[in-house]
Amino acid sequence: MRIVPIGSGKGGVGKSVIATNLSIALSEAGLKVILVDLDLGGSNIHTILGFRSIERGIGTFLNDRKARLNDIILDTAYDGLFFIPGDAEIPGIANLKSYQKQRLIKNIYTLEADFVVLDLGAGTNYNVMDFFLMSGSGIVVTNPTLTAILNAYLFIKNVIFRLMDSAFGKKTEAYKYIEKLKREGSPLQRVYIPKLLSEIAKIDPESHRKFVHLTENLKPNLILNMIDDPKDSDKALKLRRSTREYLGIDLEHLGVVYRDNLQDIALSSRLPIIKYKPNSVISQAIYRIADKLVQTGGDDSSPIDVMTIDESYQVAEIEAETDFQVKIHNMEELLHSGALTMGDLVETIRSQQFEIQNLKKENQLLKTKLAEAVREGFRV
Ligand SMILES: Nc1ncnc2c1ncn2[C@@H]1O[C@H](COP(=O)(O)OP(=O)(O)O)[C@@H](O)[C@H]1O
Ligand SMILES: [Mg+2]
Repeated sequence: MRIVPIGSGKGGVGKSVIATNLSIALSEAGLKVILVDLDLGGSNIHTILGFRSIERGIGTFLNDRKARLNDIILDTAYDGLFFIPGDAEIPGIANLKSYQKQRLIKNIYTLEADFVVLDLGAGTNYNVMDFFLMSGSGIVVTNPTLTAILNAYLFIKNVIFRLMDSAFGKKTEAYKYIEKLKREGSPLQRVYIPKLLSEIAKIDPESHRKFVHLTENLKPNLILNMIDDPKDSDKALKLRRSTREYLGIDLEHLGVVYRDNLQDIALSSRLPIIKYKPNSVISQAIYRIADKLVQTGGDDSSPIDVMTIDESYQVAEIEAETDFQVKIHNMEELLHSGALTMGDLVETIRSQQFEIQNLKKENQLLKTKLAEAVREGFRV
């Protein structure tokens, strides 16, 4: 059984659309596929698959200690494809208790299929990281926009921190060194990883060796979704260059998917696009990605033992993902290796200025309305 977790730093990049259609493409190749909606709080795979209502999902499983994941698998309209719904009532996976996560992971490992595809919620909290690391070759989905690329980069950086966390035991010099850095007030997300590692290699070769060993099993894949222009595909190559240079990780590029309005029409027709229009550019891209995934088969076992992890991270400060300084710092790394160009920055500033202009107009309009209402005697 191969586990294919699908993650992203940013929401709305197309993870669920890709997870669903990719699963169908794999099942059409004669494989048994189980698609699991792990975006708790934001589950939407059932909508993409065209289910009208869902009675039982991950929430049911989490609330009933005796339940087995196997019991909530649904059959779908497509041969070979099975589905485990998420739960819109359960707050995000960030809120999963450690024992719940472990139970979920244990149950996922017992599923019987050729492929188990995991659609994850956006973000880099430690639960998402652990689901992502159930395989050494999970898929990161991004868009070509600056924020999406930046968040994809941060996502992979957090995977590295998660591995460090696993490699550096609490009593090691490596761990102490990182604690010292934190005490001195340097957020880890801003640390230059090659320098950090060369320092750790000097003071604690054993921990360093352990870490390097873990990274050897890590080969994440990348899908660049919603591109509008062929030259957008450069973004993937440049992101790969940054992750190699700054994070020491080789990202496998699975392919690009164009933006296509047919996706919206497919959604409102309650059909996955690969069934709605198998010849559309999106569908064809997904088929190519499925082929690649099947061909690159092999060892994608988890680099870490996700079952024996501590409740809280020792090393990583995952929450820092929204910190402004962190963003600036990582933007510099991307700029240096060319993943972002000055042109991207200019483009982003332009579109932000446009948004600001519009917000100003909207603001003005609301103020006018408010003034009118007050004049007419409404109380504010
Ligand atoms: N290649 C694409 N072209 C056009 N629309 C897309 C494409 N991929 C995804 N979308 C749309 O973008 C939105 C977000 O997709 P979704 O898969 O829900 O993102 P995520 O799971 O990453 O939050 C949805 O409305 C979806 O229909
Ligand atoms: Mg989603």
